[in-house]
Amino acid sequence: MKEQLLNLLIQEKDYISGQALAGRLGVSRQAIWKGVRALNESGYRIESVSGKGYRLEEMPTYLNAASLRALLTTGRIGKNLTVLDSVGSTNDYLKQLGTDNCEDGTVVATREQTGGKGRLGRKWLSKRDENLAFSVLLRPQLAPHEVSGITPLVGLAMCKALRGLTGVDCMIKWPNDIIVGHKKLVGILTEMTAEFDAVEYIVTGIGVNVDQTVFPEEIAYKATSLLLETGRRFDKNKLLAGILGYLDEELYQNGMRLSQTAVDEYSAMCATVGKSVTFHRGTRRISGMAVGVESDGSLKVMLSDGSVCNVNAGEVTVQGIY
Ligand code: BTN
Repeated sequence: MKEQLLNLLIQEKDYISGQALAGRLGVSRQAIWKGVRALNESGYRIESVSGKGYRLEEMPTYLNAASLRALLTTGRIGKNLTVLDSVGSTNDYLKQLGTDNCEDGTVVATREQTGGKGRLGRKWLSKRDENLAFSVLLRPQLAPHEVSGITPLVGLAMCKALRGLTGVDCMIKWPNDIIVGHKKLVGILTEMTAEFDAVEYIVTGIGVNVDQTVFPEEIAYKATSLLLETGRRFDKNKLLAGILGYLDEELYQNGMRLSQTAVDEYSAMCATVGKSVTFHRGTRRISGMAVGVESDGSLKVMLSDGSVCNVNAGEVTVQGIY
């Protein structure tokens, strides 16, 4: 009832009487009064004026499903949306929902992660209300060897989203870190569950550093946040709703494949291209010059003997970045 009441107050914009609200929801005026009190206690500000009724004055800035739903304009992504108070990892939580058959475009976001996961077995820090941590489940109608475009598409969408929504001058560090200067602003962890010849689902988990001003010593040299970069605090509900809009457009417009236009856009935003890079092949450490991005999203690297090799996965260290 609380969420339905909130939706009515959001739609109404002006004062609406307790009686009208009670009539629309089929409950008593006493129940409306209790619902309003509960909403006020959880961070909303609903004014009550006798003879006029109730009006929503302010929404909480912490991540919550009602505010997000009211702001979402997406076609597919977030139609099925859960916002948790706290969870180990949104990727793990959503993988469980995926096994239980939840629909394509399902989103799980959280105010806090207690066991956030990064790439290559690293940890990802997600303190309460400091950042955005969310995962999106995709069910592409593609074979496992055709899904390599999804990771760069998500990186491209995130770079466009942060430029467009916050004005921050960010770039992509291949394959899909979003950086400002030489510091990381966004991390993305994509996990796939597949049969031999068909993808069951893909979960792409995204962490955006929003309000942090201090990072643990071991990552402080390579981490940044929107607050540090812009001096502004962003409303997390507006930010996430906007980001989901960019993801929806980029992924579904491209049929989850990397089109030539997307490759060109990605390359133009990729800070790795044109830089000296180092990566590992087995135990061998290889250095070269990143010269481009291929149509499957791999990084094209020219070695000192003039030969070219493609890097598909793993860590690439970029000179001057990290
Ligand atoms: C990386 O750069 O190493 C990837 C970081 C990915 C972090 C996000 S936060 C939401 C989702 N849940 C997780 O446990 N990880 C991803």
